[in-house]
Amino acid sequence: MIVVNTKAYKEGIGKNAVELARIMERVAENFKIDIAIAVQPSDIYMIASQTSIPVFSQHIDAINYGSHTGWILPHAIREAGAVGSLLNHSEHRMKIEDIAEAIKIAKNLGLKTIACASNVGITEAIACLSPDYVAIEPPELIGGDISVTKAKPSIVRDAVDAVKKINERVKVLCGAGIKDGNDVAKAVELGADGILVASGIVKAKDREKVLNEMAEAMK
Ligand code: G3P
Repeated sequence: MIVVNTKAYKEGIGKNAVELARIMERVAENFKIDIAIAVQPSDIYMIASQTSIPVFSQHIDAINYGSHTGWILPHAIREAGAVGSLLNHSEHRMKIEDIAEAIKIAKNLGLKTIACASNVGITEAIACLSPDYVAIEPPELIGGDISVTKAKPSIVRDAVDAVKKINERVKVLCGAGIKDGNDVAKAVELGADGILVASGIVKAKDREKVLNEMAEAMK
């Protein structure tokens, strides 16, 4: 799976996010692969109602219905049309007990979870909580030009091995600095089930071209 995180980039907000989601829809259909978008919660409804690609929230909080002003309620993102959420992104870290609780709540609601980890140790800890996916992303490579697969291939392989020992059903994504088809091919070669990418797609001059190249490598 390719997951595109739009972060808070101008190119990935509101109408721009819908435009990107339509490109993703075309590429997913052409290559018959899974491509999902992770957006700001305020964009979930618009994208989910105007396109057919799976929409993830960039975050949920470990809360249930009640008095939680300003927090992101898992039930609300589901009602808006999301199929799941990122958790513990390096840019929005969570306490381990909140990650555990958020995964539990998401499971009860039928929402998928992609929990991020900055190193192999944290990947192992998170795999014990049985999210659907763990995404290994070394923070120092996020948003940069050198991909995790070039700079730290061993971290991807070690994360895959560690997760499979703990729970074979947890899938592993890798991310940080992924820019082209070669990076994606390398991720697959290292054992990852997919990639989590942001700037390489969202800020690319020709987003469809890059996404086509990545989808081809994934296939
Ligand atoms: O969530 C994906 C992200 O943190 C990686 O960002 O810009 O390095 O692809 P980027």
